[in-house]
Amino acid sequence: MSKGLAGDISMLRGEPPLEYLAKANRLEAQGRDMVRFEIGQPDFDTPENVKEAAKGSLDEGFTHYVPTLGIPDLIEAIQDDIEKSRGFRPDKEQIMVLPGAKPGIFFGLMTTVEMGEEVIYQNPFYFQYDSLIGYMGAKKVQIPLYEKDDFRMTPEQVQEKMSGDTRLILLNSPQNPTGGVLKKKDIEAIAEMAEENDAYILSDEIYSKMLYDGEKHYSPSYLDECKERTIIVDGFSKAYSMTGWRLGYMVAPEEIIHKTHNLFADVGSCTTSFVQKGGVEALRNGQHFVDHIMEHFTKRRTAIVQGLNEVPGMSCIYPKGAFYVFPNIKETGMKSEELANYMIDEAGVCLLPGTSFGSQGEGFLRISYASSLEDIEEGIRRMKTAMEKVL
Ligand SMILES: Cc1ncc(COP(=O)(O)O)c(C=O)c1O
Repeated sequence: MSKGLAGDISMLRGEPPLEYLAKANRLEAQGRDMVRFEIGQPDFDTPENVKEAAKGSLDEGFTHYVPTLGIPDLIEAIQDDIEKSRGFRPDKEQIMVLPGAKPGIFFGLMTTVEMGEEVIYQNPFYFQYDSLIGYMGAKKVQIPLYEKDDFRMTPEQVQEKMSGDTRLILLNSPQNPTGGVLKKKDIEAIAEMAEENDAYILSDEIYSKMLYDGEKHYSPSYLDECKERTIIVDGFSKAYSMTGWRLGYMVAPEEIIHKTHNLFADVGSCTTSFVQKGGVEALRNGQHFVDHIMEHFTKRRTAIVQGLNEVPGMSCIYPKGAFYVFPNIKETGMKSEELANYMIDEAGVCLLPGTSFGSQGEGFLRISYASSLEDIEEGIRRMKTAMEKVL
């Protein structure tokens, strides 16, 4: 890799939406009642059986270094889960357990892309992508997502952007921030282009278990079984409500796992031992929990979409996965940031401007419905009142 002492730190964005969070916190500290729609984490507690598994392993003294790649029983549980969900069984040597999906994205980019090479990704995007691609000195090649396409990127768009310098295509389905889900035929067409151009595919599948209306998760990974060019990144934060545990993994060609292993051995040694025991329990006995929270998310999704469509100046399509909506606010005549600030100040509703997720987010807001139905109803009521004042 030719990145000098470090990448360009000035390109790192951190978490830009933090400014809205900080503002809402400040107002709350001053006694203001705020409805919080900005946070991208499920509001459910981690399942009890997962906590018990981690506690039990602590009591048994499972508190020392473990293999850098991950503990064998978690690697086996991941093999089983991938086989069930993606239709192929990766070799153990293709799996690396990491502290969250984020490190998987970092290491996936770090081990494949050289400075100056092109990375294709969607705009609006999950902000970590844009930050890291800039940091690594890779060239940002963005594909705009449109509401009329249900925020799905199309193979035609990818084809248009492919060049001899394309090193990696970043997929994220279901997508943060729009809830868009890629279609099987589109994924296959994109994977074919990646093969023709000898590019990698990094597929961030952190929301793969969070789909609605019988929608299915399709991963490009089954095409090459992660042996040649596909890297899956997935984790436990969202589906099992384990954001603070920091647990995720990547499935990738052995050579990439080997490089990641060496990097992570120097950076972190291993992912926390007893946290991994919790992960085994989540994958082995956690489906009932996923079903339970998806039942709640389905009701919340209906409430928020119907409610937003009644707010003057706003319209909203149903997301197909994850737990975000991306309402269109163009009819309000306000810019996204202006409206997000107005909602915090006037309505006591904290949400994010679409532009926190890229230029293509102008004219939209991002709302996370990882909140109770009561909060959703109250938030909608407040937004309606606030918009009636100005429209
Ligand atoms: C698309 C996407 N990828 C990755 C992550 C990070 O996941 P983790 O908490 O496992 O690092 C998030 C979290 O919001 C996300 O939305």
